[in-house]
Amino acid sequence: MKLLQVLFLALVQLLGSSRGDDTRVWGPGLELADRLPLNARYFFVESRDGAGRIVPQQYRVLFKGHSRIGSCRVKIEQIDRVDGSSIIRYKLMETCWNVEIHVLLGERHLGQSPYRFEGKLYTENCYCPQAPLEDWMEQIGCPSEDVQINSDLIPFRAVNFSSLRPRIIQQYDKPGSVSLCNYVVKDNQIYRTCYGRYTGFKMYMDAILLSLARKTLLPDMELFVNLGDWPLVTKGGHRRTTGPYPIFSWCGSEDTFDIVMPTYDLVEASLEAMSRVSLDMLSVQRKGVPWEEKVPKAFWRGRDACRERLDLVGLSQQHPDLVNASLTNFFFFRDEEKKYGPKVAHISFFDFFDYKYQVNVDGTVAAYRFPYLLGGSSVVFKQASKYYEHFYSKLEQGREYLPLKRDLSDLIENIQRARQQDDEMITVRDNAKAFVDQHLLPRSILCYSGLLFKEYSRNIVSPVQILPGMEQASQPGTSSYCECDSVEGNNHDEL
Ligand SMILES: *[C@@H]1O[C@H](CO)[C@@H](O)[C@H](O)[C@H]1NC(C)=O
Ligand SMILES: *[C@@H]1O[C@H](CO)[C@@H](O)[C@H](O)[C@H]1NC(C)=O
Repeated sequence: MKLLQVLFLALVQLLGSSRGDDTRVWGPGLELADRLPLNARYFFVESRDGAGRIVPQQYRVLFKGHSRIGSCRVKIEQIDRVDGSSIIRYKLMETCWNVEIHVLLGERHLGQSPYRFEGKLYTENCYCPQAPLEDWMEQIGCPSEDVQINSDLIPFRAVNFSSLRPRIIQQYDKPGSVSLCNYVVKDNQIYRTCYGRYTGFKMYMDAILLSLARKTLLPDMELFVNLGDWPLVTKGGHRRTTGPYPIFSWCGSEDTFDIVMPTYDLVEASLEAMSRVSLDMLSVQRKGVPWEEKVPKAFWRGRDACRERLDLVGLSQQHPDLVNASLTNFFFFRDEEKKYGPKVAHISFFDFFDYKYQVNVDGTVAAYRFPYLLGGSSVVFKQASKYYEHFYSKLEQGREYLPLKRDLSDLIENIQRARQQDDEMITVRDNAKAFVDQHLLPRSILCYSGLLFKEYSRNIVSPVQILPGMEQASQPGTSSYCECDSVEGNNHDEL
């Protein structure tokens, strides 16, 4: 009996250790903790059982290290994902040094734990640019090319603002309808002049430029940024007599030349996760109701920003067994509230995923919830649209989402078919998740922005100068301790 017990224990230990070899630990929050200072640094852990299945575990993450006020203080979050793997993310309260990160299951170190860092781990708000943009992007593993960027920049191979600037300002200085900023990045400082009555959204453009400038040395460049919803630079055939002008927008469309950037919403979620923002591309991955227990209906909530949204509610009224769609606000179609109402209270976006199918319908332009819908645990039906965000061109219909006609007339038959093809639906859902991991997490958002500015700035042939009357967008003050280690490859002596 005793012997059996000993054997049994030995066996358990053996299984335990062989399982340990199947643990994967990866992600920028470990490999690049010192190179990629984010508000919420993140990495992934998955443990497999003997049969190779991923099993959810409660991991322990310990930080050793120093900060100005003693030991290194962090806030740590574990988010369990649909497939059993976990996201671990952490927010440094101050800049830390001599840091060791221990990733543990019980007492056992996982992956290459303990992870040790020679240099400082800065907080996101420290102005400590580490290397010129191109080098930094290589260090953090950014792709060196992007199809959308390549195609957006084709009409803008030689950008001469000496002649373009006055024409752009003349054409788009329409304070009531256009909000536009002229930015200049010079010696890693950001300057701008804005035109238009509503220019509050410049804070989002400031945020991405300032955040990149804290991490890397941006190339000198001049750019125009459209702060409004609609892309501006219409292709217009014979009606267009000037341009096209290089203008950056958050939303692109098939009939405009605007250069697309990640939306202000994605940028803010990437930079402000674990702080001002609760819905981001990682938090949305939290494991909700398991697939088998989800309600097999399409779900939708939102504002009445366009006609098709009312049509969707109409379909829900006719087919309550297949669609649960309601408006949360009437603004554009107040007179139709009787027919398409009553309006319902907001529900948490995370609760959308109690349903198997999500519908993505345009608002005024592309619906900026689309990335979050892809990151959740449901299958996304996407309405055909001429509008797009920076990543749509890498998606394939039928692979990461299911297409719907513009007028949604095929929604009902599509849901009926989806119900018959449950396994295929799970594959689409998983493809969407893989896409999100590859293209839409904070590192990818910074990489895309960096690559876009790098490629674009090369095409500017006019001198880049701070223009009279420009205002500086200043780095935020910080209470964190931000004494930078030496700046590599820094040829800007004035920094
Ligand atoms: C840019 O445009 C200005 C004004 O038309 C012109 O004088 C200048 O030569 C142009 N620069 C280049 C590099 O083409
Ligand atoms: C629609 O969804 C809401 C929120 O989940 C739920 O409270 C309501 O009962 C649903 N309506 C129908 C008709 O199923």
